[in-house]
Amino acid sequence: MGGSDGGAAAKTVVESKEWYLAAYAPENVPTSDHLKLRSVTISLEYDSVADQHVAVQLLLISVDPYLRSTITGRDGDLYLPRPPLNKAITGFGIGRVVRSKNKNFNEGDIVINPFSPVAEYSIIPADFLRKIDQTTDIALPNYLSCLGVPGFTAWVAIEVLGNPKPGSNVFISAAAGGVGMFAGQLAKLKGCRVVGSTGSNDKVQLIKDEFGYDEGFNYHEESDFDVALAKYFPDGIDLYLDNVGGKLLDDVLNHVNKGANIVISGMISQYNTIPAEREGVKNLLNMVGKDVKMQGFLCGSYLNQFGEFAQQMEKYINEEKIKPKHKINQGIESFFESFVSLFSSSNLGKVIVQVAT
Ligand SMILES: NC(=O)c1ccc[n+]([C@@H]2O[C@H](COP(=O)([O-])OP(=O)(O)OC[C@H]3O[C@@H](n4cnc5c(N)ncnc54)[C@H](OP(=O)(O)O)[C@@H]3O)[C@@H](O)[C@H]2O)c1
Repeated sequence: MGGSDGGAAAKTVVESKEWYLAAYAPENVPTSDHLKLRSVTISLEYDSVADQHVAVQLLLISVDPYLRSTITGRDGDLYLPRPPLNKAITGFGIGRVVRSKNKNFNEGDIVINPFSPVAEYSIIPADFLRKIDQTTDIALPNYLSCLGVPGFTAWVAIEVLGNPKPGSNVFISAAAGGVGMFAGQLAKLKGCRVVGSTGSNDKVQLIKDEFGYDEGFNYHEESDFDVALAKYFPDGIDLYLDNVGGKLLDDVLNHVNKGANIVISGMISQYNTIPAEREGVKNLLNMVGKDVKMQGFLCGSYLNQFGEFAQQMEKYINEEKIKPKHKINQGIESFFESFVSLFSSSNLGKVIVQVAT
């Protein structure tokens, strides 16, 4: 469902605020020295739009941890392209086409773009845009959560790679976040016993009350993860979906069952640390004796299964078997605070910025 166009279609010149990368941030949580906001003048005159390009007004932008690993100024980690300095950063965004020089897109179309500049307006090639069907009842934020990267990542982890059996003991870290909330719900739909770790008591309550987790614990309040895991997994762990890495991953290796799967989606606890100072994993030998499989993945490597995912997820949403939870912050100005909130346990659910309606 789109909203009003706020008169953007009628404007010919706009002052557009955008977040750009002023300096790389090799370690620690990025600050306002690294990501800065500025205003640029953009002509929306038809003649200012290059052939095969469209002018887009940004409506919603997803706030994702992967941005952290692309702005370190070094290669490696997630092996995603390094954004250039002094240019608007990009993310998964939903926008409204306000001018078009591409025959596949018309003014008023609502589009999703994996490389959306974090800018109120932008003129961009139409290559990566996908039109959103505005005749359905699906709310736009869902395309950035359950039907977007977090939902797809959770689906690949649970349905494709982890594939737990009914009754399997499943552990999910960052359980209240974008990936974690959908992974937990998918594992419950498969009949598993699901336990999550997360960063506040409110979030522990949330994962149990709204996402159907059987148990949960606040990792900030556990002085010894080994003790916590022994308590919550008296019968051991069959599948661990790792979103955080570090000490928790190391301690999970002491509780795995024979033939367990460890699916690594990300390691957010290590993203603000240079590689030489990251926490090492000491208990890998347990993988040998227990025939454990550990696999990292990027959801982008499974795009050939996106159609199957979207069909199944839409069905679950329509049947209210999967519920999304969004933290929607207002205004492009809130992007920076929203981004750093990913590293402080202060958000709840999938973090999104609403730039316009
Ligand atoms: N492989 C892929 O294709 C793919 C795609 C998308 C995301 N991911 C990964 O999946 C993970 C979750 O991403 P998301 O988009 O769903 O983000 P998210 O979970 O909505 O937000 C990140 C969460 O991580 C937790 N966190 C932050 N610092 C932490 C620390 N030091 N130790 C433990 N937890 C910490 C925080 O929640 P708490 O309150 O629990 O602390 C925070 O809310 C990330 O590792 C991300 O890189 C992978």
